[in-house]
Amino acid sequence: MPLPKKIDLVVGARPNFVKAAPLLAELERRPEAFAPRLVHTGQHYDPRMSRVFFEDLDLGTPAADLEAGSGSHAQQTARVLEAYERRLVADRPDWVVVFGDVNSTLAGALAACKLGIPVAHVEAGLRSFDRSMPEETNRVVVDHLASSWFATERAAVQNLAAEGLPAPRIFMVGNIMIDSLVRCRDRAARSAVLGRLGVTPGRYILMTVHKPPNVDDHRRLAGWLQLALRLSERLPVVFPCHPRTARELLRAGIEWPPTDRVRKVEPQGYVDFLALEAHCRLAVTDSCGVQEETTVLGVPCLTLAERTDRPVTVEVGTNVLAGTEPIGVLGVADRILAGGVAPRQVPELWDGHTATRIADILAKEP
Ligand code: UD1
Repeated sequence: MPLPKKIDLVVGARPNFVKAAPLLAELERRPEAFAPRLVHTGQHYDPRMSRVFFEDLDLGTPAADLEAGSGSHAQQTARVLEAYERRLVADRPDWVVVFGDVNSTLAGALAACKLGIPVAHVEAGLRSFDRSMPEETNRVVVDHLASSWFATERAAVQNLAAEGLPAPRIFMVGNIMIDSLVRCRDRAARSAVLGRLGVTPGRYILMTVHKPPNVDDHRRLAGWLQLALRLSERLPVVFPCHPRTARELLRAGIEWPPTDRVRKVEPQGYVDFLALEAHCRLAVTDSCGVQEETTVLGVPCLTLAERTDRPVTVEVGTNVLAGTEPIGVLGVADRILAGGVAPRQVPELWDGHTATRIADILAKEP
């Protein structure tokens, strides 16, 4: 009888936790086949960005915490690389699984690849074709380090094929983030967060902004705040503030407007945020995960960008690309608030069973 495969699941930032949780649970359900170990790089370390997600998603305690913390891209990536290489040498896994496109994804994949350990990339093949996004660089490089690719949508499969990656090892498995959504939906329905924030279902707008081009540029950041104010003339706005955004507001000396119609709140835990998404009238965001989750929840989503690396959320989901000019965004928001969106579909295989499909494929690997 072969020994269970040792599989490292490398996570570092908030969206990684949501993607890793269902796969960890699925691998743990098959102890005869798998010995999974969760490796936390420490990229996100605030309790609000990390511990609360571990609790909400039943992630347990990681097998290792590399404590990389914040820093420039090079510093952060290098710290994970060094610390993870040490761990890989001390306790070599049969496979390394990385998720998404954050700096920890890149460092985890690179450390493993250089030691000849096969890498599986979950959420492979997504492309914005915009190299000014650090995530785009990360995922392009990770895809060319990986030896198995798990894709969320057909466009990703096509992107990988167009880059010459081998078709038999590219697997269209659906979106693992939706596995977590399905698992936590009932708990989100019982969340008390709306009452706590004083908003009523269907009568508020949920807004999040955290991507570097949107917040590191202070003129643009001020523009998003103006947009929030204008939106709040229609409906109250709930604004969970990412630590990067909070840091830049402080650096820019931007005062939060003294109105309770734009409610700046701390980053929310997974279950409470899901509840806020499920019940908002409209989500306004630059987050990729929110574009995906609102598509499944059937909630209109307005993305603050000219393009998206998740095209299926626009093609069949509720996502609308609203551009990066606050006035233009307001016009699109008004149209949606007046008329809603037509009933949309859930993308192919975004059904809550992606982790099972990935585990079935990993079980067949040498
Ligand atoms: C990272 C990902 C981004 C993802 C986001 C989700 C990269 C390149 N980017 O961006 O794709 O959408 O996570 O949240 O990996 N900070 C804290 N506490 C923390 C973590 C960060 O205060 O626990 C602050 C620090 O000031 C830090 C800044 O946030 O410098 C940015 O953190 P970082 O991990 O570099 O990237 P994110 O903006 O969180």
